[in-house]
Amino acid sequence: MERLQKVMAAAGIASRRKCEEIIEAGRVKINGMVVTEPGSKVDPSQDIIEVDGQIIEKERPVYLLLNKPEGVITSVTDPQRRKTVIDLLGTMKERVYPVGRLDYDTSGLLLLTNDGAFANHITHPSHELDKVYEAEVKGHISEQTLERLRVGVELEDGITSPAQAAFIRFNRQRGTSVIHLTIHEGRNRQVRRMCDRVDHPVVTLRRIQLGFLTLQGVSPGQFRHLTPEEVGRLLSM
Ligand code: URA
Repeated sequence: MERLQKVMAAAGIASRRKCEEIIEAGRVKINGMVVTEPGSKVDPSQDIIEVDGQIIEKERPVYLLLNKPEGVITSVTDPQRRKTVIDLLGTMKERVYPVGRLDYDTSGLLLLTNDGAFANHITHPSHELDKVYEAEVKGHISEQTLERLRVGVELEDGITSPAQAAFIRFNRQRGTSVIHLTIHEGRNRQVRRMCDRVDHPVVTLRRIQLGFLTLQGVSPGQFRHLTPEEVGRLLSM
């Protein structure tokens, strides 16, 4: 027997946490009976599980690496009808969802999957992967300021963990500096808030690396499937 939200996540419905909310909202039936208790035990080979009246079946697991453009929301649906990362995938029959998130104005590397266990593994705080961001910031950033970013800066939700920060180039015409910032945490709008804190607001932001994964060979708006080796490596980290 397995926990209902685990079976739902494995079928690609949503992350385990989201599935708990779906259960609590009374949208799930086991053998025709509504259940509202996350953690209810089911036998996926015997029990008939319905979500919003649709019987769920185990999907082939899918793992995608997307190069998200700016102006696209990291969400499966958007009430304001803005373009979502799912809209970029074309006609994919598996119901994938994003692993973590990038802001509307941030571009770059984003993983999507229908494998709830994989998504939980990647986003679990104890396995947070290094994330490398290329930020174009206002002004000429000094070595001392980069050092403040490395050591940690005070944000409303606490001091940031040690980071790596490298100066890449100064753009005289735009009056901006390009830096690479490697962070381990994934707080909301963290890079933008860190750069604001040191008075070099972000002009553009792009995630260029996640763990060992890069954007190589994937143009903005395009995606590729991860190889089984890459999935295995991510799960063993
Ligand atoms: N940090 C940010 O500020 N924005 C993102 O999208 C990701 C990290």
